[in-house]
Formats: sequence, structure tokens, C-alpha cells
Amino acid sequence: MNRKRTRFEFESIGLNENDPQPLFRQLEDYLRSAIQTGMLPAGEKLPSTRQLASTLQVSRNTVISAYDQLISEGYLDAAHGSGTRVSADIPELAAPVLADAALPESTRQLEMELSSYGQTMAQFEDFVPDVGWPRPFRPHLPALDLFPLEAWRKLALSQVRLVDENQLSGVDPQGYKPLRQAIAEYMWASRGVRCDEDQILVTSGAQQGMALLAQILLDQGDTAGLEDPGYMPARQIFDLAGLKTVSLAHDEDGIRVDELARLPKKQRPRLIYTTPGGQWPLGMTMSLPRRLELLQYAKTNRVWLIEDDYNGEFRYVGRRLPAMTSLDQSGCVVYMGSFSKLTFPAIRLGFLVLPRQLARTFSYARWLSDRFSPAIWQMVLCRFIQTGQFVKHLQKMRIAYAERQQTLCDALRQRFGDQMHFTQQPSGMHLTVFGKTKRIETALANSAKAANIDFHPVSIYTHDPKRGAGLVLGFAAYDNAKIIEAVDCWYQAYCGVSV
Ligand SMILES: Cc1ncc(COP(=O)(O)O)c(C=O)c1O
Repeated sequence: MNRKRTRFEFESIGLNENDPQPLFRQLEDYLRSAIQTGMLPAGEKLPSTRQLASTLQVSRNTVISAYDQLISEGYLDAAHGSGTRVSADIPELAAPVLADAALPESTRQLEMELSSYGQTMAQFEDFVPDVGWPRPFRPHLPALDLFPLEAWRKLALSQVRLVDENQLSGVDPQGYKPLRQAIAEYMWASRGVRCDEDQILVTSGAQQGMALLAQILLDQGDTAGLEDPGYMPARQIFDLAGLKTVSLAHDEDGIRVDELARLPKKQRPRLIYTTPGGQWPLGMTMSLPRRLELLQYAKTNRVWLIEDDYNGEFRYVGRRLPAMTSLDQSGCVVYMGSFSKLTFPAIRLGFLVLPRQLARTFSYARWLSDRFSPAIWQMVLCRFIQTGQFVKHLQKMRIAYAERQQTLCDALRQRFGDQMHFTQQPSGMHLTVFGKTKRIETALANSAKAANIDFHPVSIYTHDPKRGAGLVLGFAAYDNAKIIEAVDCWYQAYCGVSV
């Protein structure tokens, strides 16, 4: 590397007594980076330790320690009689990586080839979600404005105080036992599923649960069946696990089991992933007869059924339906839960309810994958459930979401009238709306973008272009005033675009 000679000003070395780093470390870092960047070129003579100590107003020991360290790393040479000099040959690799733009073309990183997994990931790099405060109507977000943060903080502080040496060594990969017990009780009381803590596997969100299920229940080349449109990340997880996927026909009542039975043998799935509590993204609830039919099909054909109950809690009309898992008597259903929507996304905790004999196999796979979820969040969540605050929060959410859904539906009807149509579903945290015509729908999407409205086009959740119509609007995270304001802005932008 071409190093430019410039006179180095030792008096400009700034050491800070208040810095937590000791002075000798600061000096060492300063000199090392001066050598690496070429400001102190090879062969350059350094002041004596006494001189530099006096220039910098530090003790001589500070300078001796820094020099000694750099001599041992090979940056400095201390030849007897000729003082300390910058080593004649600093290895090229010891030079720091400069900002990419500053590097000459020849030293830019090589364009290495990615695996097919890597190439698939590269296609989706624009989908890394934004962090920061969301714009209406970004889907998938719960009401963060209504989360009892103060109570959560108190619980968190009290739990941090309880951390002892035992927890420093790790947590059971299956999950913190009291949390598993609390989840099992909640599953019975709220979702009608009888299970105990030995069947619960705490995961890093539902997403990790899906990956483990794909790897452990099926072999590469096996087929997984999914609704289409459906939850795209599930399909991607299955693709990445080397599974084939097949789109399953569905209607207002859920997956068409008659069509499923008619699939050619080669396309029949060995695992079916479904969202019966509120189809993602169209929102319908699977009817009881269809649930029973699907369970019977799974039992007869020895097919795994994965019930993703991501919004089963949020039903606004009539009584909440028990989870489909509660009806299972064959042991072929796995329940998948997520706290991302039941509490807040940053918690990154979810869980599976597994057939008892599989729980430890999954625990080992979890351990292999990323060991376990941090103990502290599991402990806080556990207390949140045990103290009754979780159930109270869910009740509050149900009321708020029903109101927010109504506000959004009213505002859309009032503004867009018959240009737009949608079904107000009895559950869920989002509304899927459609333009009266294809052209109107394009105008709706364009004007939403112009008005800074966040939405997901249904097209990202389907493989079938004919099923790609619609815009998914999340309403749960936005209060009534924000919803009305956002719809007004959208409508103004819509009036400005030609249809
Ligand atoms: C259909 C569906 N399943 C599961 C999840 C939750 O996933 P996770 O627990 O990994 O955040 C979501 C959330 O976005 C979802 O929309």
C-alpha cells in the first residue's frame, strides 16, 4: 500500500484522563492507527519515552507500556542504540479496512459467488423492514401505544434483580420452565388447548418455530402445502429447507379439503401450514366443519398440520373460537404461537405446542441452532402472564382493535365510497381492500405511496398473479385520529392521480 510521508505531530496526540480506557491503552491505539494509516511511516524514529512523556504530560511508564505493546505486536522496533522506530515492514494485512469508497478499485472486496440460499436472500434484501416509528398502515404491528410499558418496566427491573449465577450459565433450550408452565395454563384457559409445560418449546418468534418444523418433520424434497395467497415468510422458510411447496385452494370456509384429496399423489403435501384463526392476508376464519374435515384428512393421510394462531386472540364478534389444535385427537397438529402481536415485536418470543414425544428432539435442534432465548425476557414475560397483566392487556387490545377496525372501515367507506371494496372480518389486525377495477386499484396503490401510506400489496403473498389483487392495511397500531388523518391524506392524493 502506498503510504504518504507526512511529519507526525506527537504533541497533537490527545489523551483523556476521563476516558474509561487507561492512558497507556489510548496512546497505544493512537500510535497503532497512525502506523496503520501511514501517518507514521516505516523507519520513522519515535521520540524517546522520556521526551514523549514530557510532551504529553503523562508518566514515563505510560509511554513505556504503549511502546512495549507495539514492539510485541511488530509495529515498532527497538534496536539498541538507535532508539525506537516504526518497523520496516508492517504486514499489509495489519492495515485497517478503510471506508469502501476510499479504497482504490483494485482493493475493493472480491465479488464472491453466493450459494443458492444466498442468492435467494439477495433477491429480498429490499424487504429488510425499516426500524423506527411506523407509518400507517404498516401491517403486522400491534398497538404499541397501548402497551403497559410502565408495568412492564417494573416487572423487568424486579426480574433483573432476581438473576443469579445459575442463570448466567444458560437456560433450558426448551424454554424457562415457569414460562412454559404459564404458557400451558394460558393455552388451556384462552385457546382451549390442553397441554403441559413439557410440550411447550419456547422459540425466537414463530419464524424460528417454522424453520424447526420444516427441518425436523420433513425431508428435503418433501412437499408442504400452503394457502395462496398466504404468509410468504412461511413459504420462504419451506423453500429454504429444500421442501417443495404446493398452493392449496381455499374459499370463505378455509382450505378446500375436497380439492386437497383430488391432488395428484405426487403433489400431496406431507405437511400443511394454515392460519385458521384469520387467513393471512384475506382474513377469513376457518369454519368448524372445515376444521374437522381438515383434521380428519390429516389423520387419515398422516399429514402434519401446523396451526399458526398468530391472531386467534383478536376476535371482535361473538365468542373467540378455540384453536383448531384443541380439536385434535390424533397428535398430528402442532400449534404455533407468537408474542410479537400479543405483546410487542421486539420481544422475539414465540412457542410451539408439540406432541410430547417430540419436545426434546426439538429442544436439541433449538440448542444447535442458537441455544436458547435470553433468560431475562422469558422471566419478565412469565411474570407478565402470571400476574394477570397479559390477559388484561389482551382484553384491552380486543376492544381497541375492534374500534380501530371500525374507524378504518368507516373512514374508507366515507372517502372512497364504491371505488374500493372490502370485507370487515370478525377478527384480525388488518383489512385487505380491493379497487373496484384493476385501474382503480393501481391508482389506490400509487396514491397511497404518494401520501406516505405504508401497506403490503397482496401480490407479495402469492405465486398466482390472478390472486394478487388487493392492498393489506394494518390498523392495530394506529389510534383513531391517525387512521382518519391517514385516510384523508390518501384520499387527497387519490383525487390527484388520474384513474
Ligand atoms: C401469519 C403470521 N404468522 C406469524 C407471525 C409472527 O411471526 P414472529 O413471531 O416470528 O414475529 C406473523 C407476524 O408478522 C404473521 O403475520
